[in-house]
Amino acid sequence: MFELSPDFFAAISFVATILFIFGLKGLSSPKTALRGNTLAMAGMALAIGATFFHPDVKNYTWILLGLGAGAIVGIFAALKIQMTAMPQLVAALHSFVGLSAVLVSIGTFVSHQKAGPLSAVFMTELTIGSFIGAITFTGSLIAFGKLQEILGSNPVKFKGQHLVNLLLILVMLGLAVKSIIDTDLMSFMAMTAVAFILGFLIIIPIGGADMPVVVSMLNSYSGWAASATGFTLGNNLLITTGALVGSSGAILSYIMCKAMNRSFFSVILGGFGGDSAETNDAQQTHKRVKSSSVEDVSFVLGNASKVIIVPGYGMAVAQAQHAIKELYEVLCHKGVEVKFAIHPVAGRMPGHMNVLLAESEIPYDSVFEMDEINSDFSTTDVTLVVGANDVVNPEAKTLKSSPLYGMPILDVYKSRQIFVSKRSMKPGYAGVDNALFYYENCSLVFGDAKATCDGLVRAVRET
Ligand code: TAP
Repeated sequence: MFELSPDFFAAISFVATILFIFGLKGLSSPKTALRGNTLAMAGMALAIGATFFHPDVKNYTWILLGLGAGAIVGIFAALKIQMTAMPQLVAALHSFVGLSAVLVSIGTFVSHQKAGPLSAVFMTELTIGSFIGAITFTGSLIAFGKLQEILGSNPVKFKGQHLVNLLLILVMLGLAVKSIIDTDLMSFMAMTAVAFILGFLIIIPIGGADMPVVVSMLNSYSGWAASATGFTLGNNLLITTGALVGSSGAILSYIMCKAMNRSFFSVILGGFGGDSAETNDAQQTHKRVKSSSVEDVSFVLGNASKVIIVPGYGMAVAQAQHAIKELYEVLCHKGVEVKFAIHPVAGRMPGHMNVLLAESEIPYDSVFEMDEINSDFSTTDVTLVVGANDVVNPEAKTLKSSPLYGMPILDVYKSRQIFVSKRSMKPGYAGVDNALFYYENCSLVFGDAKATCDGLVRAVRET
């Protein structure tokens, strides 16, 4: 079989890395996301293709079996998984990365040990790859279970939890040092076992509301695990790709924490996103909300000159984006200026709303980020909130006891009139009641967001 020279393989790895970097850059905006994805796919195809002709590859059976199995799972997941289930899919995929880092480390250890003692540098690479991989594996499985609601999403806490974790970290590091110094397989396996337990214990006290941050953090870990595996295998491409995943995951975790006004350490130490729904029910009994029919809303919308639509997680659940696009078109046709306002953590993953609005082909120049549009609300006739809740809760600014306190919000309360499409009085993800719903200028439109928006399209057309 034709073999690539090591220099040529290094050159291809370099080109693939550049394609990944441009791919990531493209993914930073909806306008360039498709191009970014295509570049990254081209980089990956180049990397896989070149690996086939690497001089070290002697047997293709296992590679083809792995590629075949991965392709089947990938195609099935891409066709079947709903956008709303994307965070748990990503968590499941990270668990694979973690497990493969562990298996590669153990396999490399066992096969190289036969040839004599291993160098300290090599052993350090193996131990780092194995323990980060093991923590990523069990941590991602727990994150998947919580997001898929197989496990309860409430934080699981017990007395002395942080102390137990700290002790386990010390034991793990001690075993890592011993396995590096003595090239000892038993210590290596024990260290990996402790890391598996740690991954589980670190994630269980974290509540459902913080899970997307955790997924992004585990994304980062899986990147570093892959990078360590790259050192073990002497594969430069895996080192750079892993570093790109590791650093972009870390940056994303930071951006998400900032947008939710949570410190990274408060997320890791856990406890947010519990069960405050009971308090809400108690609070709600003392207050009254106004509700409007689709006909009332359509009349006000049709007569407005400036409208802002705020999509949230409920739009994704209802898959209302296409109906919203039609509403946008009929209102524009009537001469109404329509803009979309996107909160950085609306939905359940970064860019969730942008992706859905792009899918329904709403023009990018009508879609605005929070900082760009917040000053517009005070001069807006009508704001239509479709399935958003936490990201428009004014108590995030005023109520110190609220778990949302400090989170920047979309200032929809400043609009002349607000309509909120939702199905019930249930709270949003943070589990807290929304003061906006009791404002004089706010009225709720109860029902599924898609049905409401379809109804609005019909009614506005008729007015
Ligand atoms: P949420 O606060 O979660 O509120 C979603 C709203 O949609 C609820 O009020 C729900 O009320 C309504 N809804 C659900 N299904 C619906 C349907 N079929 N039709 C109409 N309404 C429906 O959403 P948000 O405002 O987008 O806020 C996102 C939350 O997730 C924030 O707390 C944020 O911190 C958190 N979070 C986001 C991310 C990222 S990166 N996006 C990451 C971590 C955490 P009903 O059930 O009454 O209909």
